[in-house]
Amino acid sequence: MTRILSGIQPSGQIHLGNYLGAIKNWVEEQETAESFYTVVDLHAITVEHNPEALRRSTQELVMGLFALGLDQSKSKTFLQSHVAQHCQLSWLMECTVTFGELNRMTQFKDKGKGDEKVRAGLFTYPALMVADILLYQADKVPVGDDQKQHLELARTAAQRFNNAYGDVFVVPSPMIPSIGARVMDLQDPTRKMSKSSASDAGLIYVFEEPESIQKKLRKAVTDAEGRVEYEPNIPERAGVNNLLEIYSAIDGRSPTEIASEYTSYGSLKSDLSEVVISHLAPFRKRYHEYLTDPSELGRQLKIGSDAAQEVAQKTLESAMSAIGFLKPIP
Ligand code: TRP
Repeated sequence: MTRILSGIQPSGQIHLGNYLGAIKNWVEEQETAESFYTVVDLHAITVEHNPEALRRSTQELVMGLFALGLDQSKSKTFLQSHVAQHCQLSWLMECTVTFGELNRMTQFKDKGKGDEKVRAGLFTYPALMVADILLYQADKVPVGDDQKQHLELARTAAQRFNNAYGDVFVVPSPMIPSIGARVMDLQDPTRKMSKSSASDAGLIYVFEEPESIQKKLRKAVTDAEGRVEYEPNIPERAGVNNLLEIYSAIDGRSPTEIASEYTSYGSLKSDLSEVVISHLAPFRKRYHEYLTDPSELGRQLKIGSDAAQEVAQKTLESAMSAIGFLKPIP
């Protein structure tokens, strides 16, 4: 059986880009693969953060993941900080990857901007991510395009470790989703929908009020062409293409087929609102049920971290023994 591991950062509310680009696929994959999903709270402190905000966004994200369909009886969802083995293996990985490799990470260059005061963890973060993946002996790692370089490092580290100390790790492969992988900002359709966006108007949150979703879609940027056609290679049509891709990711038909049913942007937008809102309605309901019973969340998370620890501890022990540490007496 294929083993899958993926991670998501707890930063802000879940938007349609997170859902259609990642979480929706996770929910589907848990039916056929042995899947581990982790909320990477350890990664969230590599940049300046606020403890209270971290607590809140972690809790909201976990509730959101369960509301959107992750199910502890099919896959295992857990907090990274609840499984100590991530930090432990991370040290071994820091001593497997090189300074040069970390120094070439484009995400570090983008976020660090050469600032002396940047946290050291921002620099070593890819080694922790390598540990996240290798601990579970994952075959496949669903990630966005922007994480390819990190995944390449995980492959390099696994191979290097295995060659030096013996076969301990499965060498993971990336799994880059195609459909709905790139939901664009509604106000600036040349940019990916992202929490770092300038305004909220370009983002649709999965638990957002229906009226607000409708309003944002109505105001979504299109163009002056006035034709509803799917033309993914024409950058000027990014707005309309994005609306058709969102529609397609939910509805299952191709963007071209959907386009053929519309002659105006107005009717496309109003039908798309309906499709989005009715797709999200059951999730919203479940999310609000969690809000009324937060203790259930703790119980669910324990199921995930118990299962994760069991797998992680086995891998950690093999790695520690292979690298030359003496085994402690049990
Ligand atoms: N670095 C990923 C991101 O920023 C999150 C992440 C951390 C992750 N550990 C992971 C993704 C392990 C996949 C597997 O999106």
